[in-house]
This record gives sequence, C-alpha cells and structure tokens, in this order.
Amino acid sequence: MKRIMLLGATGSIGQQTLEIIEHYPERFSLYGATAKTNVEQLMAIVMRHQCKVVAIEETYRTLFNETQFYPLEALSTLVEELPKDVVIVNALVGSVGLRPTVTALLNHRDVLLANKETLVVGGEIIAPLMKRSRGRLIPIDSEHSALRECLRGRKLKDVEKVVITASGGSFRDYSRKQLKKVTLKDALKHPNWTMGAKITIDSATLMNKVFEVIEAHYLFQLPYDKIEAVIHKESVVHGLIYYKDGNIMTHMGPADMRIPIVSALQDEDVLTYRSFFDLTKLRTLHFQRIDSAQYPLFDLGMAVAKKKGLHVVTMNAANEAAVDLFLRKKINFLTIETIIYDCLDRFENDKEITLDSVIEHDQEVKKYVYQEYLGGV
Ligand SMILES: NC(=O)c1ccc[n+]([C@@H]2O[C@H](COP(=O)([O-])OP(=O)(O)OC[C@H]3O[C@@H](n4cnc5c(N)ncnc54)[C@H](OP(=O)(O)O)[C@@H]3O)[C@@H](O)[C@H]2O)c1
Repeated sequence: MKRIMLLGATGSIGQQTLEIIEHYPERFSLYGATAKTNVEQLMAIVMRHQCKVVAIEETYRTLFNETQFYPLEALSTLVEELPKDVVIVNALVGSVGLRPTVTALLNHRDVLLANKETLVVGGEIIAPLMKRSRGRLIPIDSEHSALRECLRGRKLKDVEKVVITASGGSFRDYSRKQLKKVTLKDALKHPNWTMGAKITIDSATLMNKVFEVIEAHYLFQLPYDKIEAVIHKESVVHGLIYYKDGNIMTHMGPADMRIPIVSALQDEDVLTYRSFFDLTKLRTLHFQRIDSAQYPLFDLGMAVAKKKGLHVVTMNAANEAAVDLFLRKKINFLTIETIIYDCLDRFENDKEITLDSVIEHDQEVKKYVYQEYLGGV
C-alpha cells in the first residue's frame, strides 16, 4: 500500500489524484491533504480518507481537532515529519511549491511533481540536490510524463532532442488586435484541457510552455538547445524523443491528466486504467512552429531561462502576480505581458542564487506588482 501526502488536494490536479487514489483502494491510501482556503472541501477529504495530517491557513485550526494540524507556512515541517514511506504529490500552484520539494529531496523522499513553478524558480537549487538525494522527482505534467514514457528502456545519452507540444491555449486563433478586447471568461475557456485557472491563463500566453521547457531542462538534464516546443492544436501527441540512431519515440493519448497521474503513482507494477482513445477518429494532426509575433512571451521567456539566475524568479513572480490580477479582473489580458517586461527591466539579474534569496526575491517582485498595478492592495 502506497501512502500519499497530497499537497494542494482541493485543486484540479489534487482532485484528479484523489480520484485515482479512490479508484485503487488496494494500492493507495491518502495519508494527508492540504489546501489554502477551500476549507469545506478539505474537511470532506480529511473525513472521507481519515487523514492523519492536514495543513491549511491557521484560522481554520480549530476545525481539525482530531487531525495533526500544520499551518500553511509550515508545509516544509510537515514534509520533514512525515513517516519515511509516505510519498509526496506536489499539486500546489505557484512558487510556494519550492520549499516543500527541496525539504522532501533533502530527506530522500520521492516527490511526484505537478507543481512546475518549483523547477522554474528553483531548478538551479534542485539540480544538484537530485544528484545526491535518494528521493526521486517524478513528473506529473503531461508532456514530461510523456517524455519519461518515451525514455523507458533507453538512455538519455542517446537522445538527439526532445519535443514537447503546446495546444496554443484559448486564443491561438486570435490576432493581437483581438487580444486587446478579450475577457476573463474567454481566457478560461481552454480548447482541450480542463485545468486550474492559473495554468489556463499561462497556456493562453504560452508562458506555460516556457515553464515546461525549463522543467524539462532540469528533469532530464538536457541543454536548452535539445528541447523544442511546437504548437499542436489537437493535444493528441504530448511529447517526442528523437534518438541519435534515427528512431523517434512518440507519446500520444487523450488530454486526460489522470493518465500521467497513474504513471507517476504506479511504479513498475502497472495499473489497469481505461482510456478512451479511438485512433480512427483522429483525422488530421497539425504541428507548427511557435509564432513569436503572436506569443512574444515565449521568446522572451526562453531568453531569460537560458541566462539563468534571479531573472527567472523575477519572470515567474511577475507572471504569478499579473495572472492573479487578471483573474481578479483588475487588469486586462495584455497587461500580463506589460508587467513581466516591466519587472525584468526593474529588477537586476543575479547569477548567485540560494533558496532564501529566491523566496525573498519572489516576495519582493510580487509586492512591487501589487503596489504598482493595484495601488498597494
Ligand atoms: N490542472 C492541470 O491539468 C495541470 C496540468 C499540468 C500541470 N499542472 C500544474 O500543477 C500545479 C497545480 O495546478 P492546478 O491546476 O491543480 O491548480 P489549482 O486548481 O489552482 O489548485 C492549486 C492547489 O494549491 C492550493 N494553493 C493555492 N495557493 C496556495 C498557497 N499559496 N499555499 C498553499 N496552497 C495553495 C489550492 O488550495 P485552495 O483550493 O484552497 O485555493 C489548491 O489545492 C500547477 O503548478 C500547474 O501548473 C496542472
């Protein structure tokens, strides 16, 4: 029986992970769960699974008398104090996922990682840790899970390049002029996937694909010039690996996050999972290069990623705060770009980073964005 600590249990990945846990009661059990503010949903999860530990904002402590309680700021302590066999699923959204992942790896625990921002802001810190930790980072993100499947039985040194696909998001057929008028409701209508709000907006700006290239760079220890992203509007092919011997391994399947979740959870003992995928209904698949005029944040983001250092943290923090403002209808869609450019201009890059400097800088950039674009709220 694999016991699971689910960080971010009330979110889109969290809920789908719970579905899988409940689907295989003989293989998995839920040891603990966390949320930020969604207290009723968290209480229901804790009761249904008889969780041993829980974390949420301190104000809700009294509602969880019978469970070991941790306030949100103590997620790392929670991770540190888990029994040795408990596996962590990190389904948090945003840079808040970094510290618990680092703690888990320092304590030689496996982390099943959906939270891509962990590697975006902390990849440089996590990369050396991955080498000396007995804990593994196992991707849940669909493209990286696809690459992991394509790598089975083969060696990284034989990889010529990898390709991940991007749906193009909610506005892939819009002109820049049309983007000036789009609403939050339009932006949240993703053509292929049902996901949390932030990643849906990140998909529309293509910032999500920048994050995924960074994620692939650290997960598979590949240089940036060996990682490519292409627009593939059908979201049927999730990842490809070109091997040096001319073979190309391709991963395809439905746009269903439960498949990568199953892959990450199951280890070598494969589960039976029904997936509805009829090849004969596929008709045409399209693949095209990313148009930088349509998605300027992609080129910008890749340039920042390649330079490394604190600017990557600046970009992520500016994006998190800007997307939050857009989700609260305080700014329009294109202002997300403006805010990211503004922050990269304002804050200097620094090549020397530590866990503390990353977390401090992340807060500083977010504070600036809220002050400048929301009058200090
Ligand atoms: N959704 C997908 O299909 C998908 C696919 C691939 C990768 N991912 C990645 O997986 C991660 C999770 O995405 P999601 O779509 O599941 O997000 P989501 O639906 O917004 O859920 C986020 C979870 O984290 C909690 N949370 C939010 N802010 C927090 C904070 N400051 N401190 C502690 N907990 C916090 C939320 O609690 P409350 O409910 O209380 O707010 C919720 O449980 C992201 O990094 C995303 O990029 C998602």
